[in-house]
Amino acid sequence: MAEKTEIALNLQNVNAGYGDTQILNDISFAVKKGERLAIIGRNGVGKSTLLNTMMGLTDMHSGSVELFGNEIQNLPSHERARLGLGLVPQTRDIFASLSVEENLISGARNNGRIEQAFSLFPRLEERKKNGGGQLSGGEQQMLSIARTLMGEPRLVMLDEPLEGLAPVICDMLMDVFEKLASDGKHTIVLVEQHAELAMEFSDRMLILDNGEIVFHDETSKVRENPSILERHVGLGIS
Ligand SMILES: Nc1ncnc2c1ncn2[C@@H]1O[C@H](COP(=O)(O)OP(=O)(O)OP(=O)(O)O)[C@@H](O)[C@H]1O
Ligand SMILES: [Mg+2]
Repeated sequence: MAEKTEIALNLQNVNAGYGDTQILNDISFAVKKGERLAIIGRNGVGKSTLLNTMMGLTDMHSGSVELFGNEIQNLPSHERARLGLGLVPQTRDIFASLSVEENLISGARNNGRIEQAFSLFPRLEERKKNGGGQLSGGEQQMLSIARTLMGEPRLVMLDEPLEGLAPVICDMLMDVFEKLASDGKHTIVLVEQHAELAMEFSDRMLILDNGEIVFHDETSKVRENPSILERHVGLGIS
């Protein structure tokens, strides 16, 4: 069935948190198909809570979330995944006791995808019989990303995927995100603390502060006026 909408994701007046505690206040924004959105903000402002809310992992108090034109706010996470939403969580959820191969199969919609996962991450193919818990931090992040991709998401949410990794691994992962973003099949939402990288990668930026959107516009606006970052994130750009 042809999709009528050009919008991949649309949040309207979302209030959400954990139990009765509200973290996100009146969040509304949309992401177009094929867009690269970077979400930045200081520690603890609600970036992960926002991605987790889209995935159905928090308590949503009110508002709506549409994915490719379908209302998903009342669906469990696995049904959101079936509709094309994928999350690479900040916590790098992999199974330490399963092998690399088994981890990938556990995320699969289609086992044939494993070859594609290995072509994106040759390191994982070399280690396919190793246990998830034996991998380095960088390899675990590759596995976490590859596992999410096995679900064939059309909208991929990445929560601080470069956190704590060596520069050479960060470059390699950014190349992978670049490939995904430019293959015409993926919309990408990247939460990233490195504002320079976020600016390089994205075509739109959203800044969160204290559970609210304080900026959402084209990345070129931030490039032209870096004081926006200074004001909302307390970051100077060199
Ligand atoms: N499972 C949870 N239960 C209760 N409160 C939580 C939970 N997870 C996060 N919080 C609270 O929600 C707020 C936002 O946290 P969140 O993890 O979304 O921030 P963040 O912007 O992703 O921060 P960071 O950059 O450090 O990852 C914080 O006050 C945090 O303590
Ligand atoms: Mg976070």
